[in-house]
Amino acid sequence: MTEQTSSNSRLRVLSGMRPTGKLHLGNYMGALYNWVKLQHQYECYFFIADYHALTTDYADPSLLKQNIFEVAVDFLSAGLDPNLCKIFVQSHVPQHAELHLLLSMITPVSWLERVPTYKDQQEQLREKDLATYGFLGYPLLQSADILVYQPHFVPVGQDQVSHVELTREVARRFNYFYSPKLVVVDKNNTSGVVAEPDPARLLLPEPEVLLTPSPKLPGTDGRKMSKSYGNSILISAHPSEVMQKVLGMSNGGQRPTQHDPGNPDICPVGDMHRLFSIPTALEHISSGCRTATVRCDECKMMAASSITHHLLPIRNRREALEAKPNMVWEILEDGAAHAAKRAEQTMQAVRAVTGLSRDRSGVRVGRQTLSKEDASRARDLTTFKDWWDIAPPLLVRNLRSRWREDILPTGKALKPDAEGVWITQNGQRIFVAAATQNGNDEAWKFSVKPKSYEILVLLCWDKSYFLHDFVVPQKLYLGQWVTAKKRAGKANVDFSVARENGRYFLHLPFFPGIDITDTEADYQPIRTY
Ligand code: TRP
Repeated sequence: MTEQTSSNSRLRVLSGMRPTGKLHLGNYMGALYNWVKLQHQYECYFFIADYHALTTDYADPSLLKQNIFEVAVDFLSAGLDPNLCKIFVQSHVPQHAELHLLLSMITPVSWLERVPTYKDQQEQLREKDLATYGFLGYPLLQSADILVYQPHFVPVGQDQVSHVELTREVARRFNYFYSPKLVVVDKNNTSGVVAEPDPARLLLPEPEVLLTPSPKLPGTDGRKMSKSYGNSILISAHPSEVMQKVLGMSNGGQRPTQHDPGNPDICPVGDMHRLFSIPTALEHISSGCRTATVRCDECKMMAASSITHHLLPIRNRREALEAKPNMVWEILEDGAAHAAKRAEQTMQAVRAVTGLSRDRSGVRVGRQTLSKEDASRARDLTTFKDWWDIAPPLLVRNLRSRWREDILPTGKALKPDAEGVWITQNGQRIFVAAATQNGNDEAWKFSVKPKSYEILVLLCWDKSYFLHDFVVPQKLYLGQWVTAKKRAGKANVDFSVARENGRYFLHLPFFPGIDITDTEADYQPIRTY
């Protein structure tokens, strides 16, 4: 439920891209090229963010489906392999939308207004009305995209880092509200303790950015390559088109005549060579440029042929895929089915903690206790071994709160009063004391304040981290308790529980043990006394 595990134990990676139409070299080098490498190392989920496209293009969705198809073909042509990673369309996995809605309940509006891309994009796309609820929620939808897969890493470029940062903050807030808690020492207040989400049981672990190195990739006019600038070269471009575009490229305003030397380090065509040419070609044009022995048009033709060479396998795969469009749609369907399975795993846990699970257990009708099976599952702490290294007073607090939150079926009936004391709905005082078996000593030793309680609850954790919990009504121990209290005066009453021949005995000082075996795991009296 809470661990980032799956059938295969590779670390998980998730990323997405908006369907802007056929991808250009900038989209490719800034993401896809890197994804193709990641798929060999990680369990990868890559999707086409069609909901995100609608946050800005809601007024005209006529190109959306075509663009989704083109991006899918580019994903596959560039070398994403559906046998190695899951490729799908965001809206085909409705769990993204569901988690987005739930995260919207806990996300302060100010967090979204502060995301730097919010105002930037509104400025840049001034022709569109982006004063919408959906556009404000853009980065939160992205958080849901990410968190629903509980990934370890999110490969993105620098421009998306603020969105992953928001994702981490939202996850932290969600965990703070809903993940199982652990009592820890409050570092800011040495005298106190605080409840914090148990790091071993986080429902939405915070993912890390895997920053995609973004090489300098200029468009044909020397500005950043971007569809909206009209300066891009598509990865599916025909060689003649690549040639024509590269020949039209800016050289950075150098070499007023071809007899003048230039500096390839500040030339956009030089940037293309650095990305796509083999070292000897790069060396040739570099020295040729500096000594004015290679002309710009020669240099550009060589750059175009390096690019074409790199894109050749991509073009070939596109041609094959375009002959079988149904295969592309089927890959997306299959990817969505796998992705939905993983996302549903997260959502089941999320629905359970937000009160939205359709599981009918947990709602009590009249008098009901946990089933034997549930009770024993809840009480086996073997999987939380790291708890046992923490200091005993905190351990006891954790055990108590676990008992109250996870085991006792009547969380609502008990209000925490003082340390270890709870009051039932009808005003009964319950004292809850916890002890763990220590060293070679088989007995559980308790030391509690000499007060009056109507019910004594003893949580006895054995060495194998299994809980024996006794709900001891006053009528069993009252006489002995009063005597023990009187003798203790202001000191604590020390007593113990011991297992003898398979039965459990409560030993108050100076008296023979009281057999409390039959009071184990019977919570009924607490609620209904
Ligand atoms: N906003 C991203 C972009 O514009 C696309 C995206 C949507 C995304 N959801 C995501 C990227 C989740 C990474 C993870 O490029």
